[in-house]
Amino acid sequence: MRASRRQVLGILGVGGAVAATGGLWRAAGSPVGSTGALLRSAGPLPERFRVPLPIPREAKVVRGRGPGGRDRVELVARESEFEILPGRHTRIWGYDGTFPGPTIRGRRARALDVVLRNELSVPTVLHLHGGQTPPASDGYPTDYVLPQGVSEPTVMGPQGTSTSVTRTYEFPLKQRAATLWYHDHAMDFTAPNVYRGLAGMFVVEDEQDAALGLPAGERDLPLVIADRSFGADGDLLYPALFADRRGPGVQSRFMGGVLGDVVLVNGAPWPVHEVDAARYRLRVLNASSARRYELVLDGHGSARPFVQVGSDQGLLERPLQRGSIVVAQGERSDVVVDFGGLPVGARVTLRDTLDPDVVGGILQFVVARKAADESRVPEALASAASMRVIDPREVTATRSFHFQLRADGGGGGGRSQHGRAHPSGHLWTVNGVTFASGADVARPVLGTVERWRFTTDVHHPVHVHALRMQVVGRNGGDPRGGDLGWKDTIDLRPGEVVEVLTRIEGYRGRYVMHCHNLEHEDMAMMVNFTIV
Ligand code: C2O
Ligand code: CU
Ligand code: CU
Repeated sequence: MRASRRQVLGILGVGGAVAATGGLWRAAGSPVGSTGALLRSAGPLPERFRVPLPIPREAKVVRGRGPGGRDRVELVARESEFEILPGRHTRIWGYDGTFPGPTIRGRRARALDVVLRNELSVPTVLHLHGGQTPPASDGYPTDYVLPQGVSEPTVMGPQGTSTSVTRTYEFPLKQRAATLWYHDHAMDFTAPNVYRGLAGMFVVEDEQDAALGLPAGERDLPLVIADRSFGADGDLLYPALFADRRGPGVQSRFMGGVLGDVVLVNGAPWPVHEVDAARYRLRVLNASSARRYELVLDGHGSARPFVQVGSDQGLLERPLQRGSIVVAQGERSDVVVDFGGLPVGARVTLRDTLDPDVVGGILQFVVARKAADESRVPEALASAASMRVIDPREVTATRSFHFQLRADGGGGGGRSQHGRAHPSGHLWTVNGVTFASGADVARPVLGTVERWRFTTDVHHPVHVHALRMQVVGRNGGDPRGGDLGWKDTIDLRPGEVVEVLTRIEGYRGRYVMHCHNLEHEDMAMMVNFTIV
């Protein structure tokens, strides 16, 4: 543990400018696997494995009733209060007042509209993470849904196209079956808004996936993992720079990101779930701001493998047995675990190995009953055609994106969209610049293939809207396990170099790419690109 910590610091040390600023997030002691500072809860932490795992309600999809026979879901973003910690009450902002929001099930190539009504007191934006969505419905950060009686926030650069109180997001869903998610994407305030609860699962289904025979129904479990910290009264703690939201960002100590000390799965702290002695499909989403996890499954005397069947953008070509899975913020991993053969009463724990003292066991499964199991994990999952490796000879442009902290050195830098410098004198940048809604970092041409190279100073999960990527190299070698399949979010550790190929597909227009450490995103680590 200690050696690898020094290793991380060593990598920072060679970064020159980075070394000088490293104290910002190291002061409070980042765990090895994440960049950020721990925010301690006040009051007693909940006991582990007492609260039952909630299964998010499924959104009501009205089939074929929207204009032109489109499917339609209605959501209300609103404040509500519920019991997250036993005996205490927490105010959240949630879709339909729940955290996570209702799980939306869409069907491949069947257009679905989400009609969002904003009953919060602040502007919100909805983004379907992993969706291949036309720009007008992609949740550009200044395309606000304004609350009743609230006018447009002042931002630098061109304004978005805001609507008052409601907005219809049109998702064509011309994409593979996959575990996506939807969350708030408001300019400068995505981190606190998601932290308060504005996130939910979105599963795209299709016939091929359904025909495989993977565990289904109650044995297909969405697991939304998110770390949070709580005050003594039960309310969520967040170290915003300005409590009144007059400006974005967090206090300097949390510049690296906010790490909570309570891990919620589907909104419940360190829950427990009764299972049949059978196979389960776990759709794991890391919805945390700054925390990465390396998950292992152990219990009943030994480690148990995961069989990974999918990643961000759907099924892998074939199942892969893995001892552990790493999920960075925004990433998804679709795994099958087998409780068959275990005796009734056996306990199996999903555990994090990156921060064992704070996070440790996240979720415990208790085998409650013997049961028939007709599920299977076939040797071939996705068709070879859908997984075809992009031919590097098709590449027409190569671009590099460097994600790093930068001192406020003038040139319009060091400022967020709200035009304020951060008191730390630093902001997070891509290729040295902070986010400006007018400028494009790239203008890739629809239908072409590009090679993108990402590099980092500290941990930065790089997320690209609208496009799917194939990781072709990491640090000069082969991709890692977590790079498999079609990706929309790439996990980069300090000093890493990742190369991806992407076919520019979908729709012309302006999109964003950003770090999915949500504190970094709010503190300007985002760029525009326009598909032309
Ligand atoms: Cu998950 Cu641009 O977001
Ligand atoms: Cu996204
Ligand atoms: Cu980052």
